Amino acid sequence: MGFPIIRPRRLRRTSALRNLICETRLNRSDLIYPIFIDERVQKPIPIESMPEYFRLPIRYVIKEVRQVIDLNIKALILFGIPSKKDEIGSQAFTTDGVIQRTVRVLKREFGDRIVIITDVCLCEYTNHGHCGVLKEGEVDNDSTLEILQKVAVSQAQAGADIVAPSAMMDGQVKAIREALDDSGFIHTGIMAYSAKYASSFYGPFREAAESKPEFGNRKSYQMGYENSNEALREVELDISEGADIVIIKPALPYLDLIHRVKEKFKVPVAAYNVSGEYAMVKAAAQKGWIDEKSAILEILTSIKRAGANLIITYFAKDAGQWLD
Ligand code: PBG
Repeated sequence: MGFPIIRPRRLRRTSALRNLICETRLNRSDLIYPIFIDERVQKPIPIESMPEYFRLPIRYVIKEVRQVIDLNIKALILFGIPSKKDEIGSQAFTTDGVIQRTVRVLKREFGDRIVIITDVCLCEYTNHGHCGVLKEGEVDNDSTLEILQKVAVSQAQAGADIVAPSAMMDGQVKAIREALDDSGFIHTGIMAYSAKYASSFYGPFREAAESKPEFGNRKSYQMGYENSNEALREVELDISEGADIVIIKPALPYLDLIHRVKEKFKVPVAAYNVSGEYAMVKAAAQKGWIDEKSAILEILTSIKRAGANLIITYFAKDAGQWLD
């Protein structure tokens, strides 16, 4: 008698069997929904490079968030586009800045029914589009830290549950933790963009947020895509500086890192499924080249399978409608 055929197909025969052995189940509670709030607009403005996505005026945000809550998605990340930009991004930390106003409105309406996360960065607020302040034509780390502290404290004051520093300045998590604690915001969490790559997949976001650098690029602060040990070091530093959650960004080209970070560190890991990843799927789906729903579910599930506990994704509302 020859060796019998081993038959993995046995467990794939019916949908009930496949469901029984399903290893990764995507849930609505895994998803974080990004919202762009534009202080200059009176009605939702479509973002051309992000089909079906809009920049919203503050007064539309309540309606949008009510829909998100009705879909059982319980976390948001907010990005602001101010009416004025300057050298140091001062609209990022004023009490009546676009984000501060939005957070107050949302907290008043929804209280703790939704987790509000705010992006702590300057690129949407500076007239040169860099994530920090300039000194002799370079992005200056330590003077940027002082501004990031003000941004984070002003967002916490408005009611943000979690702040998400995304400028990739050295020491930003430590500086922000200290500033929050000194101002009494010991319960405000930090979700750090620890491993943020200088990626071509941010293109559509930069159109949406009008945050393209006026000169040069972000390679002196964001990481090169060739490296992964460097990302582990960044994650380790951020955890030691007080990060509560760490982010890997983008998601799909960096699934290996999501996996390595999850294996090595015991903190919640978030993956940012960025604007370019969204745009590619939407564009191909519009052409009829891929099936949108199954592609999106496959992508999000693969990010979770790699090890992400949380996924920041522009697909959150789509997926929210499809998941059971
Ligand atoms: C701000 C920031 C960026 C993104 C999130 N926060 C852009 C950048 O670094 O240029 C990109 C998100 C996306 O592409 O979806 N620094």
